[in-house]
Amino acid sequence: MMNRLQQSSEYIRCLEFFSGIGGLHYAFILSEIKGEVVASFDINIIANSVYKHNFDKEPITKGIDSLTIEDIEKYKANCWLMSPPCQPYTRGGKSLDDKDQRSKGFLHLIDILSKLSDPPNYIFLENVLNFEKSRCREKLVTQLCLTNYEITECLLTPLQFGIPNDRLRYYLMARKRSDSYELENIISPHEYLKNAVIHQTWPLPPPLSNQQQELKHSEPFNIPTLSTYLEELTEGEIKRYLVPEKYILKSFNFRFDIVLPSDRKCSCFTKSYGSHHIYSSGSLIQTKNLEFTNYNFEEPSSLLELELRFFTPKEIARLHTFPLKSQTLHENPIYHEKTIPRSYDNFLKRNYNGPYLEFPENISIKQKYRVLGNSLNCFVVSELLSCILFL
Ligand SMILES: C[S@@+](CC[C@H](N)C(=O)[O-])C[C@H]1O[C@@H](n2cnc3c(N)ncnc32)[C@H](O)[C@@H]1O
Repeated sequence: MMNRLQQSSEYIRCLEFFSGIGGLHYAFILSEIKGEVVASFDINIIANSVYKHNFDKEPITKGIDSLTIEDIEKYKANCWLMSPPCQPYTRGGKSLDDKDQRSKGFLHLIDILSKLSDPPNYIFLENVLNFEKSRCREKLVTQLCLTNYEITECLLTPLQFGIPNDRLRYYLMARKRSDSYELENIISPHEYLKNAVIHQTWPLPPPLSNQQQELKHSEPFNIPTLSTYLEELTEGEIKRYLVPEKYILKSFNFRFDIVLPSDRKCSCFTKSYGSHHIYSSGSLIQTKNLEFTNYNFEEPSSLLELELRFFTPKEIARLHTFPLKSQTLHENPIYHEKTIPRSYDNFLKRNYNGPYLEFPENISIKQKYRVLGNSLNCFVVSELLSCILFL
């Protein structure tokens, strides 16, 4: 089914704020919406070098908090894509919310939005769980209501899209009201905040998602096993990714997440993945004694013989559904067993002509983990763009 935008002639010109390695840019390309990303903004030099390597266009390194109205208006963009820093809303980041220096760029964009002569028709935002309870979100939706946007908010994980990775994230999609019927239905920020629903099921209830009819009769997603996402590593390569013994031995009583290749779920990868923070930064794969799953975290030395390893950056990129050149999943027979409308397996079978995610040679493994941990699930975002934002 084509969405409204695919049928119309509206051409989308996106600004991508907090662009990192371009997860939103990939998602936009994957959504097959007619348009382009006209400029991206980020201050991280490493992430920007990866972005430039793949999109052949350097993100603007000026801090978003210092952008002027003219800096933004000159692009004549009708869509904003953004994934602001998440630390202000996490316990690890002290949950300082709008008082955190790292939310300055985002708050500045909210302020600018109220001053633009021609605000964007579409806004997409990705953030972490807890953003939905934040003062920053309250400020954003307040501004959006005052500027006549229709808002959809949800909390979703890639598991709901048939991908064996749990990464629960908050998404907001806002569309500027235009026709007279829509303008009659404007609600005040107070009323919106009182009644707002944060959707947690996929597809979203009708009439929010245009895929509702297609998905209604489909069977539940058959989530593939992690093994289908793993690289075929040589013994030498496996050694490179083994979790150092000292990390395991010092993790007394920390129930870090161990997964088997036959599992159909792994936990969220954060930017600390690959470091000594093995608790809650992402799953570790058991490579030996696969029949043994009765882990004793009170005796970490008993876990050493399982030869736990980190997922490789390529495996994480696959789980985050970045388009990769070596997309071996394409050929995997498991994906041809069933055709599930709009599930990830369909997406993989499409002919993809856009840029792939590759890392420049000088980027270390640690840097790859950091930028991937900061990034997002491209398929989930592409679905939200094509099924909700541009409905
Ligand atoms: C959550 S990450 C976004 C990652 C991105 N969506 C991706 O796919 O890689 C947030 C990004 O915001 C950038 N950032 C933080 N504060 C900024 C500011 N004031 N101006 C520009 N970029 C900023 C960080 O460097 C980081 O890359």
